[in-house]
Amino acid sequence: MTVTDLNPNDTKTVGVAILGMGTVGTSVAQLLQENADEFAHRIGGPVEIKGIAVSDLSKTREGIDSNLLTDDARALCTRDDVDVVVEVIGGIDYPRELVLSALKAGKSVVTANKALVAAHADELAEAADEAGVDLYFEAAVAAAIPVVGMLRRSLAGDQIQRISGIVNGTTNFILDAMTSTGASYEDALAEATRLGYAEADPTADVEGHDAASKAAIMASLGFHSRVKFDDVHCEGITNITADDIAAASKAGYTIKLLAICERITDSEGKTAVSARVHPTLIPNSHPLSSVSESYNAIYVDAEAAGSLMFYGNGAGGAPTASAVLGDLVGAARNKVHGGLAPGENTYANYPVADFGEVPTRYHIDMTVNDRTGVLADLAARFSAHGISLRTVRQEEQERHENARLILVTHQAREADLQAIVDELSGLDDVREVNSVIRLDG
Ligand code: NDP
Ligand code: HSE
Repeated sequence: MTVTDLNPNDTKTVGVAILGMGTVGTSVAQLLQENADEFAHRIGGPVEIKGIAVSDLSKTREGIDSNLLTDDARALCTRDDVDVVVEVIGGIDYPRELVLSALKAGKSVVTANKALVAAHADELAEAADEAGVDLYFEAAVAAAIPVVGMLRRSLAGDQIQRISGIVNGTTNFILDAMTSTGASYEDALAEATRLGYAEADPTADVEGHDAASKAAIMASLGFHSRVKFDDVHCEGITNITADDIAAASKAGYTIKLLAICERITDSEGKTAVSARVHPTLIPNSHPLSSVSESYNAIYVDAEAAGSLMFYGNGAGGAPTASAVLGDLVGAARNKVHGGLAPGENTYANYPVADFGEVPTRYHIDMTVNDRTGVLADLAARFSAHGISLRTVRQEEQERHENARLILVTHQAREADLQAIVDELSGLDDVREVNSVIRLDG
């Protein structure tokens, strides 16, 4: 008998607890209620919300039966009539406690919480394994874009070399608004928050922590190794100025916050995994440069598949609910028919690369004394650090004794590039290092 032959009314109801009723939880509950019949057929049995945990019971929640609401998430997630727990509260310590107790009580868990997964994936996966239940987290990376499923299932037969992309909708929205409309950083962040893209504490977005959690998850799945949040080198967008954006645009680049995960082999032939998040200059000819608003896009380079690009809504209530509900259908089907989703596999166990060893390219914008010999002296200093220059551009300044130099390096070790930047700042002939931004693409 196939799932479509089943009469959903003949099978046990799958009970769902939703923990959190904010931007994501509200969309999950609405879509689950609106499409209950469709879900019953896809699952092979009816699905019903048994309870919803919130922190403030006095808030008005349109379209939600108030009898479902509770402020006791601990009790709800282990209740006998609950089979699947959807965690969309956010944070780390409290949801960790809830998710672990749900898993230990035999409930499958669906979470959109990248901070939790990036910090505690080992512990959560072990608890799910021990209890013989599912742990799904598709929405944790790039909301509606099926990145987790793609890495866990679709590319399970390939060798991934590199995963890079825009995985934070809030910062992409801010950078895009600053670039295309000249909006201020503060106004763009306020609008991203109003639209429901930002985290409860948007520091996580603008400091790059949210993207770093997603990078840790992508690197772990893509390279079958454990990469945690703390292993990811992380720089946010708070130092990016309107001047940086204008200078980038003039030179034919766009600034994006990129998450880059790659397998690198050092000079001794040892393989390691690097995961990093930082503002990055991308040539305007590259498809990532035109990813606007809160959209996300992920590039994957795999040995057999070649280059793949995934693009779509990376934040917001409904797009995130789409991913959560896809996971919920999977978890509920397994509750009805048996079986488990593909779990964690960290067999390759690659170490995390030292950030100083990572190969990268820099774009350095500085103001120098406009005198004979300065350029030759700078070129010699770069060379002494083993760095070769790809392009050098000089711009006239209003003060004729100054020149603005824009240098683009070839690929070099991150540690060597950081050393030359430190050295430049201490030179008499360098009046100011205006910006140092890495280049990709
Ligand atoms: P919100 O801040 O909008 O909602 C959080 C919800 O959790 C609220 O309903 C709040 O209750 C509830 N809550 C807070 N503390 C408790 C508690 N102690 N007990 C019970 N409920 C509690 O967050 P989002 O919906 O934006 O995000 C939820 C999760 O989804 C996060 O992990 C986030 O990273 C992730 N995510 C978010 C995306 C987005 O675009 N927003 C996209 C992808 C993932 P109350 O309503 O009473 O205040
Ligand atoms: N705050 C996150 C973002 C939500 O802006 O991308 C989606 O994970």
